[in-house]
Amino acid sequence: MTNHHADATDAGAASSSSATGTTVTVDAHLPSDWARGAMREDIHRAFTRRPMILPPKWLYDDRGSEIFDGITRLPEYYPTEAEREILAGHAAEIAAVTGATTVVELGSGTSDKTRTLLDAFWSTGQLERFVPLDVSEATLLAAADMLAARYEGLEVRAVVGDFTRHLQQLPRGGTRLVAFLGGTLGNFYEEERRAFLGAMADSLEEGEWLLLGVDRVKEVGRILDAYNDSAGLTDDFIKNVITVLNRELDGDLPVQDFDYIPFWDAKQERVDMRLRATAPIQSRIAALDLDVALDLGEELRVEISNKFRIDQLDAELASLGFELAHSWTDANEDFGMVLARRTAD
Ligand SMILES: C[S@@+](CC[C@H](N)C(=O)[O-])C[C@H]1O[C@@H](n2cnc3c(N)ncnc32)[C@H](O)[C@@H]1O
Repeated sequence: MTNHHADATDAGAASSSSATGTTVTVDAHLPSDWARGAMREDIHRAFTRRPMILPPKWLYDDRGSEIFDGITRLPEYYPTEAEREILAGHAAEIAAVTGATTVVELGSGTSDKTRTLLDAFWSTGQLERFVPLDVSEATLLAAADMLAARYEGLEVRAVVGDFTRHLQQLPRGGTRLVAFLGGTLGNFYEEERRAFLGAMADSLEEGEWLLLGVDRVKEVGRILDAYNDSAGLTDDFIKNVITVLNRELDGDLPVQDFDYIPFWDAKQERVDMRLRATAPIQSRIAALDLDVALDLGEELRVEISNKFRIDQLDAELASLGFELAHSWTDANEDFGMVLARRTAD
C-alpha cells in the first residue's frame, strides 16, 4: 500500500498536489503506517475468531480499486448505470432542494458518477467546495485532480481517511451535503450500519444533508449475476484481499487454494461474498507472528452487499436523526437514492 504523504499523522496533515495547475488540498488522516496499524488489528481479529470476517476496506489497494472500476463497467453490474440515471434525472433538484455549498463524498473512489451531481451544483454557482474521502489514496488523488481541472476555482479537499473513523474530521462550514453512493452503505453489517449512520448524524449540523445511493431488493438471479460476472472480475477483486494481506503483513496464504463463493442470504436480503479453502491451508502471517490454519471447505467472509427496501431504510434514518426529504429510483426500479436532512436533536 503506497502512502503518498510520509508526514501524515492520525490527526491529519495538509499538503498539496497540483498535477493540473489547480491546487488540490490533501488531508491525510491515516497514519503513514496505517496498513500496519488498523490492518494488523483487523486481520489478527479475522483469523483468530470464528466465523472469520474481514472488513471490506482492505479490498481497495490500488489494484483492487482498478478492478472495482472494471466491475462497474460490466453489463451485468447494473447498479452503476442505474445510479447514474437517477443522478442525471435529479441532480438539479438535489442542488436546488439542499442549497448545499459543500459536497462531501464518502468512499468516493474515481468520483466518476459524482461529476453528474457536481455539474448540477456547479451550474447554479452555489458550489464552493468538494471533499472526497477514500482509503484508496492513488485513486482518490487522481479523481481530485480530475475534478479540480473540470471545475476551475472549486476548492477540492481530498481526505485520505476511513469513513468508519474520520467523520468528525470532515471540514465544517457552509451547508454540507454528504453523498454516499455506489451502494457502499450495503457493505456494512446491520449493527455497523446503524453505528455509521449515527456517527454521520453526530457529525452533521441540523439542516445539513445526506444523499444515499442503495441497491434495492429485486429478482435474485439478476443480483447474483452482478456479483458473479462471466469475465471473472469479481472473483479477482475478492481474492485480491489475500494478495493485499500477504504483501502488507508478510503472509504466505495461497491465493490459488481459495474459491470465490457468492450466495444470496434470503433472510438478511444480502449477497454474501466468501472465499472457501479448496485444500487444507497451513500458513503464516509473519508481521502478526500468527500461524493460520484453515480446514478444507472453511470460509473467510470478505464482503456483504445488503439490498434495501426504501421504507425500511427511511424508518432507520428517522430513528437516527434524519428526516426523509425525497427518494428516487431508476426506470427499472433497480436502485434507490434517498435524500435525508439532519433534524434537531
Ligand atoms: C463500492 S466502492 C464505491 C465507489 C464509488 N463511490 C462508486 O459509487 O462507484 C467503495 C469505495 O469506498 C472505499 N472504501 C471502502 N471502505 C472504506 C472506508 N472504511 N473508509 C473510506 N473509504 C472506504 C473504497 O476504496 C471504494 O472506493
